[in-house]
Amino acid sequence: MVTLNVNGVRREVKAPDDTPLLYVLRNDLELIGPQFGCGLAQCGACSVLIDGKEARSCVTPVASVELIDASEPEADAGEMVLPDAA
Ligand code: FES
Repeated sequence: MVTLNVNGVRREVKAPDDTPLLYVLRNDLELIGPQFGCGLAQCGACSVLIDGKEARSCVTPVASVELIDASEPEADAGEMVLPDAA
């Protein structure tokens, strides 16, 4: 189980640690703002903000953005902001 902070909402998903974040966002959480383009961190279609920094979710393992301590209500590490669906 991986706990994510997506647009200020905690979301839990079952996924292997090395699953690309993009797949989890689109397939498991049905958040279709980030798009699949090249899959090689080149085009930016899958970009999300993680702790205020742009990241290519197609090459970001989901476990790398898990909340550090999901039991802490104030924990905000790994906060993601997604683009709206086009
Ligand atoms: S899909 Fe092109 S950078 Fe991720």
